[in-house]
Amino acid sequence: MASAAVVEHTFNVGATNISQLCTESVIYTANEQLPGPTIEANEGDTVVVHVVNESPYSLSVHWHGIFQLLNGWADGAYLITDCSIQPSGNFTYQFNITGQEGTLWWHAHSSLLRATIYGALIIKPRNGTAGYPFTAPYGEIPIVFGEWWNKNVNDVEIDGHLTGLGPAISDALTINGMPGDHTSCKGAGVYEVEVASNKTYLLRIVNAALNVELFFKVAHHNFTVVAVDACYTGPYTTDVIAIAPGQTVDALMTTLAPPRWYYMAATVFDSNTASIPFNNGTATGIIKYEGAPNETIASMPSMPAHNDVVTANNFYWSLTGLARSDDPAVPTTVNHSMIVEFGLDQEPCAPDQTKCKEYALVAFMNGYSFQPPKKVSLLNALFDDLTDVYSEDFPMSPPSVPTIRKATSVKKVMYNDVVEVVLQSKKYKTKVGTENHPIHLHGYNFFVLAQGLGRYDPTERSTFNLVNPQVRNTVAVPGGGWAVIRFTANNPGMWFMHCHLDAHVPLGLGMVFEVLDGPAPNILPPPPDGYPKCY
Ligand code: C2O
Repeated sequence: MASAAVVEHTFNVGATNISQLCTESVIYTANEQLPGPTIEANEGDTVVVHVVNESPYSLSVHWHGIFQLLNGWADGAYLITDCSIQPSGNFTYQFNITGQEGTLWWHAHSSLLRATIYGALIIKPRNGTAGYPFTAPYGEIPIVFGEWWNKNVNDVEIDGHLTGLGPAISDALTINGMPGDHTSCKGAGVYEVEVASNKTYLLRIVNAALNVELFFKVAHHNFTVVAVDACYTGPYTTDVIAIAPGQTVDALMTTLAPPRWYYMAATVFDSNTASIPFNNGTATGIIKYEGAPNETIASMPSMPAHNDVVTANNFYWSLTGLARSDDPAVPTTVNHSMIVEFGLDQEPCAPDQTKCKEYALVAFMNGYSFQPPKKVSLLNALFDDLTDVYSEDFPMSPPSVPTIRKATSVKKVMYNDVVEVVLQSKKYKTKVGTENHPIHLHGYNFFVLAQGLGRYDPTERSTFNLVNPQVRNTVAVPGGGWAVIRFTANNPGMWFMHCHLDAHVPLGLGMVFEVLDGPAPNILPPPPDGYPKCY
């Protein structure tokens, strides 16, 4: 048995010149890499990352999916758990990885900066590949999807606010930072990987794209999904993967095809229930078998239609948890049974939205449009008992008459309470339709007990999977549909639950769980040295 180690990194976040899509740009990256550095650790290790902010923007880095048990100060959620590292400042994030294995990732959690500041976080079993609940793979292939804008992403975000319609669509989808050879730019970067025949590879797939769910295929190859969001699944065989922003998928792929070159490709899945523009391009990469002849044209997979809801939901809904004997069982007594309705609506343009024409977008959860606090993080306010920073009136169910109120409102729960949430995608009163929304919870994994289209009906309760539901940190709630999640609030702190379409966060598509301290030792300790405070 390997003993726990300390995995240490320094991320220098600063300007990087890049030629991408036939355009010269300056972007902000960690260590001049796109994607940023991969963090590799074993379960049980401690991760230490010194973030040095050499950019002109203030910045928080979030370790997406890491529990941060009794360590919410390191969650890196801007204004929820910290106040961001100022330009020329630095902060050391330190956290333990306990009881999690698989693929997670990290990203900037303040403004659109996460378009270029992100990377994979790979957690292996502490006793090595023998710890996998599947045959150890011959090799591993990281596949990290992103979205690329030719313009400075901060300007894209500001413009999205001024128009009231959110950021413009991206200029390209990327695989491991590169758009591939199916864009109008000849000579754009293409991710290539060499494989041996008749071997099984573990693909570690992350959707770090900002605003789009994706389909992913490799021509002439099948996948066996073995984990999602760093939680093992029952083996699930498919030729197509659907993945929402925030989610990860670990899939085995055996190289049984003739020794040639094959494209991998990613395209947008959009349910088409709202007339919102999206990037309809294709990101490609190439899998090259060893000894393959130099191909002039590799085979391209045939991708599902952008609005192929059936294929997407078939993937999302077919997954089950592995539910090994020592995995936590689904709690059966529920302390808080919530219905949270969310979506987008329109409101009058604000005076500062100088490019806004008819209306501006606004988002809500149970009638509240989440406003982050301004002067102090919620976690700081909780710890220091500050009043007037937030209210504890986040409703258990939607208002009977659709109204939208801007507020910093949290749902308070006691330590170890079991929370069940029916996540209902909803259209309010206007012409803004429904969209798919990947809902992400910080600080916990949750069980996904059931999912469906249309309106959740309480009779669905009889269909809940309480035996081997999938366990995730981000669930792709279908446009106009629902998902039921359940988790045990065993981690004191302030935990953001929000849509992982980046465009929807500033519109208010989020809420926060305030989880109180438990009996000792389940008490949130004071903030670490150098914690980015606001006051
Ligand atoms: Cu991956 Cu709140 O984020």
